[in-house]
Amino acid sequence: MNRVALATLPTPLESGGRLPGGANLWVKRDDLTGLGAGGNKARKLEFLCAHALAAGAKSLVTVGAAQSNHCRMTAAAGARLGLPTHLVLSGEEPSHLVGNQLLSAMFGATLHHTGLKDTDWPALEEFRQRLTDQLSRSGSAPYSIPIGGSTAIGAIGYALAFDEIIEQCAALGFCAEAIVFTTSSGGTHAGLIAGLVRARAKNPKKPLPRIVGIAVAKGVAMSVERISELTTQTLRLLDCPARVDFADVIIETEYIGAQYAVPTRAASEAATWAAHRGAWVLDPVYSAKGFSGLLGLDAKNEFDADSNIVFIHTGGLPSLFVAH
Ligand SMILES: Cc1ncc(COP(=O)(O)O)c(C=O)c1O
Repeated sequence: MNRVALATLPTPLESGGRLPGGANLWVKRDDLTGLGAGGNKARKLEFLCAHALAAGAKSLVTVGAAQSNHCRMTAAAGARLGLPTHLVLSGEEPSHLVGNQLLSAMFGATLHHTGLKDTDWPALEEFRQRLTDQLSRSGSAPYSIPIGGSTAIGAIGYALAFDEIIEQCAALGFCAEAIVFTTSSGGTHAGLIAGLVRARAKNPKKPLPRIVGIAVAKGVAMSVERISELTTQTLRLLDCPARVDFADVIIETEYIGAQYAVPTRAASEAATWAAHRGAWVLDPVYSAKGFSGLLGLDAKNEFDADSNIVFIHTGGLPSLFVAH
């Protein structure tokens, strides 16, 4: 599978001391992937952009919420690779740009403010399709990336991240019991499960972590069926004949709160906990809700005392400077 170097890898795995329930916390710093202020999308974009270049693309198109980290990182990838980038965003054009939009504009992307709600994913995807068709007709040869970069090609980045985490844990002398992270469009989740299924097929006796996605949006890719399907496609690209089991797909939905991007008290407390413990900066839309899920599971005694739990910090810093 083609890959273009965009991320600074491996990212660090830092000790987070003990959780209140007694397990050891480890923080996988995918907020430090380096590309355009960092975050999980750099791993997916290495494969998506390689595919785009191999297909002869001359521009990139993608879509997301007004403060999409994925859009900002795609704009950064476009800048690095010399590909003009178009971003289809929810919401109206603001009087001045802040957070991810400010960075996206700095990276030279064209921002298309659709006026659509950030929960209206089908309409946003339709807009992307129409724009892609227009750009194709005008000879811009666009490579069009669905929401979150969550295709099987993008998910390969997280199948490889699974191996990276397992190797780092082994070097530190333990096998993790769980890998916990924020899930939204599902590519990170499907990729990690593909990594798990492939590792299990290679060595069925090896203890491997369960993969626990903490959902932050209703109705994007939250079904077990959808994540399984994306995992199956990813395994196919990896030439791995092993099959995903529905039991491998764990999605915790009770930490979303009222809706996508609406702050929760638990997330705010989790962000404070992480900031005090390790100076880890979590954002209210994604990583803090994900970490609130980890602390919630710990409070329900889901993790054995003395076990090792890895939290993937998927980034999101720029939206901290935007009112929610
Ligand atoms: C900071 C952050 N964390 C987690 C996620 C979720 O990743 P995925 O869309 O692959 O489920 C996103 C996606 O936009 C994100 O920006």
